[in-house]
Amino acid sequence: MNNLASLLKNKNKFLILGCGFTGGFFAKTIRKLGFTVLTSSRSNNKDPNSFVFDSEKGIVPNEKFFDGVTHILSCIPPDKNGNDPVLGSLRNKLQSLSLEWIGYLSTTGVYGNTKGDWVCETDQPNPFQKRSHKRLNCEKEWLNSDLPVQIFRLPGIYGPGRSTFDAIKNKRIRVITKKDQVFSRIHVADIANAIIYILQNRNSLEFHQIINIADDEPCSQIEVIQYCYDLLNLKMPKPILFEDAKKELSPIAQSFWIENRRVSNKLLCEKLGYKLIYKNYKMGLKNCFLNS
Ligand SMILES: NC(=O)c1ccc[n+]([C@@H]2O[C@H](COP(=O)([O-])OP(=O)(O)OC[C@H]3O[C@@H](n4cnc5c(N)ncnc54)[C@H](OP(=O)(O)O)[C@@H]3O)[C@@H](O)[C@H]2O)c1
Repeated sequence: MNNLASLLKNKNKFLILGCGFTGGFFAKTIRKLGFTVLTSSRSNNKDPNSFVFDSEKGIVPNEKFFDGVTHILSCIPPDKNGNDPVLGSLRNKLQSLSLEWIGYLSTTGVYGNTKGDWVCETDQPNPFQKRSHKRLNCEKEWLNSDLPVQIFRLPGIYGPGRSTFDAIKNKRIRVITKKDQVFSRIHVADIANAIIYILQNRNSLEFHQIINIADDEPCSQIEVIQYCYDLLNLKMPKPILFEDAKKELSPIAQSFWIENRRVSNKLLCEKLGYKLIYKNYKMGLKNCFLNS
C-alpha cells in the first residue's frame, strides 16, 4: 500500500459523494495513504471531514468543500426517476473544477440476465429490472457529461459488517437454493484497492472507461451460506427451494433471483494486471469472519 501512496501525488484531494459502505471503506483506505478526503452524507455528523449533500432535499455542499478537489468518487445510486443525483445537483460545479478524475460506482445489473453466461465490458448492456434501466441511464448521463469519468460496474458487495455472517447473526438469513443459479460478488477492500491501483497506474495502463470489479469465482448462494455456517461451526438449516420460498420474499428480494450471470474480471485482472486480495468468497469471508 505504501508504494501506492508514493505513486499517487500528494496534492490530490478526494471528495467521496455518498459515504456509505463502499464510499466509507474507500475514504478510510485512501486516508491511510495520507490523502485529504472529504465525504458526504445526507445528515449532519460530528466528522469534521464530512459535509451534507442531499439531492432530494436540495441541500448542496458549500463552495469551500470543492476548493482544490482533484478526484471525486460517486457512490450514490440513481434517484427515483432514474437520473443521477450528483449530475442533477452539481453538474455545473463539477464542470467548473480542474478535475483529474471522477469514478462512478455502477452495477453489473445493467448486463441483465445472461442465464449463467459470462458478461464483460464489451457486451451490450441489456437491463431487465427497472432499477437497472435507471442505472444505465445514469451511466449514460456520466458518459455524456464531458467530465473525466470512469465507471466501475459492481456485483454484490460484501465485507466486514455486511456479509452472510451478519445475516446469520441478525437472523435475517434465508437458506434458499435454486438450480444452476450463481451470483458474482466482490469484497469491498478489492473495490477500493482496484480503484487505487487504476489511479496509481493511469499513465502506464490503457484507459478503459468502463471496468467490472468482480472476484474470480461466481457461485451459488447456498455454497456461501454453507461455508459461513461451517466457519461458525453451526449446522446450516435445511435449504428451501426458491420456488417454495418465493411467495414469502419481498419483490426486491425475488428480483435478485430472476437474473443469473457470471461477471468477468478479465479486463481488470488480466489486461490491466490488478491482483485481487480476495479471489473468491472463501478468502473474502474468512476476512469477514476474523473481523466480525
Ligand atoms: N450493495 C451492493 O451490493 C451493490 C452492488 C452493486 C452496486 N452497488 C452500487 O454501488 C454504490 C455504492 O454501494 P454501497 O452499498 O456502498 O451504497 P450505500 O452504503 O447504500 O451508500 C450510498 C450512499 O449514497 C448516499 N445517498 C443516497 N441517496 C442520496 C441522495 N439523493 N443525495 C445524496 N446522497 C445520497 C447515502 O447517504 P447516507 O450516508 O446519508 O445514507 C450513502 O452515503 C451505490 O450506487 C450502489 O447502488 C451496490
